[in-house]
Amino acid sequence: MTQSNFKKNILCIGAGYVGGPTMTVIANKCPEYKVTIVDISKERIAAWNSDRLPIFEPGLEERVLKVRGKNLFFSTDIDTCINQADIIFVSVNTPTKNFGEGAGKAVDLQFIEQTARRIKENSSSNKIVVEKSTLPVRAAETLDTILHSGNNKIQFEILSNPEFMAEGTGIRDMEFPDRVLIGSKDTPTGLAARQELIDLYSHWVPEKNLITTNLWSSELSKLVSNAFLAQRISSINSIAAICEATEADVTEVSNAVGRDSRIGAKFLNAGPGFGGSCFRKDILNLVYLSEYYQLNEVASFWEQVVSLNDYQMERYVKRILQAMFNTLVDKKLAVLGFAFKPDTGDTRDAPAIYICKRLLEEKACLRITDPHALENARKDLQGIDDNNVEYIIDPYKAAEGVHGIALITDWAEYSQLDYQKIFDKMEKPAFIFDGRNHLNHRELFDIGFNVYAVGKAPLTHI
Ligand code: NAD
Ligand code: UDX
Repeated sequence: MTQSNFKKNILCIGAGYVGGPTMTVIANKCPEYKVTIVDISKERIAAWNSDRLPIFEPGLEERVLKVRGKNLFFSTDIDTCINQADIIFVSVNTPTKNFGEGAGKAVDLQFIEQTARRIKENSSSNKIVVEKSTLPVRAAETLDTILHSGNNKIQFEILSNPEFMAEGTGIRDMEFPDRVLIGSKDTPTGLAARQELIDLYSHWVPEKNLITTNLWSSELSKLVSNAFLAQRISSINSIAAICEATEADVTEVSNAVGRDSRIGAKFLNAGPGFGGSCFRKDILNLVYLSEYYQLNEVASFWEQVVSLNDYQMERYVKRILQAMFNTLVDKKLAVLGFAFKPDTGDTRDAPAIYICKRLLEEKACLRITDPHALENARKDLQGIDDNNVEYIIDPYKAAEGVHGIALITDWAEYSQLDYQKIFDKMEKPAFIFDGRNHLNHRELFDIGFNVYAVGKAPLTHI
């Protein structure tokens, strides 16, 4: 065993939505490994060490509390931790570049490069470096070059081990993964490093769920998985538009289509457009990569998935505007849900951001409610017509006296609200725009609402 009787020292650089939960699961499943998570953000590390974790994820807190201070540690002493580590997971953010060459599409690799240089400068023994962040294909080559540059004698073996967890179900996704993907070089040292990760995951993942590939296939598979998932959502959202025009019902269509076992039922829920920190960024990464290799038809195929998503968000806004007599000036709207999906407080690239900005442009007054995302919502909309936005935790208070309700996130509790009580205190005619097909539309109509559900003909009293 290395220091303090632990069998291995695992380090994760980046204490975010991926680094925090993944390492918590590893620490829980592998008590003989010491797991340390470091970050440049002092606030984030302080929060991980406090009673109020920096992210909300069901099941996370109890797992952190079980192992924190035993074999799970959070630190800002990045350099010392690098030197002590046997295996280093790199889980820093890889956002879309917003400047210079490739702006709006390519990945901003500055955090990855900074991390690689820091690993090189602070290592006095050989290490396995694992790409956990989502990266462009062949990024491992760049890492390899940086790590072995100069007269460095230390050997670094690079593995790709992309993360497939989804927020809100992150802990379950990691504890019972469909698959764990490990990409490595096909060399003796590459295969030995690969075996180290297999040994780690074998603590809880069945062998049949461990997939090994070459490095480039692993890097590409992550982008492709997200592109395929997002493509399904854009596909069904495009059909929602046809349904609204023809009185077909998108829920019925997606059920009929998804029952074909070749197609499958998952990820066919029409909505206000996909959000989250990954889909848009990773598809644009794929688009950029395709353009780089002059595969222009491939690039435009995937770019269309993103364009359709933008169209879907705008369609949602236009439907509200048109239904409410083509003016929203001074009308009050309750926004139910701001997180990009339920069971998370994360609002990165949430459709609610775009939708709320557009509604404010139309001079509506917004009352935003969300059980976990109000703090982030406030930051996202800061400076945009602040006088016309209120943040209200209680959905009943948020809906009091409003002209319409826009449901953007399908939090379970929103289907349990007393809509008769809400209707009674609303301006009339009362409108509800169910962006997730989350509510009982017939019941709402019977109460007196004018109901506009995504991909369905409206139910109106007007
Ligand atoms: P995040 O922004 O929540 O966390 C990244 C953390 O890295 C931040 O706390 C940041 O301070 C830290 N960091 C940046 N540069 C650093 C440096 N040089 N040294 C130390 N720390 C540094 O991001 P995330 O959502 O955890 O995503 C991380 C990666 O995982 C991305 O590549 C993302 O695409 C991928 N991913 C995310 C998800 C998800 O659901 N969020 C799922 C799968 C994969
Ligand atoms: C996604 C991938 O699912 C995950 O494998 C990857 O590791 C990270 O990116 P995440 O973004 O956390 O995970 O959530 P996901 O459940 O995929 O939802 C993404 C967006 O799509 C959300 O806005 C969600 O509301 C939307 N969505 C999802 C739909 O609109 N319809 C659906 O049928 C499914």
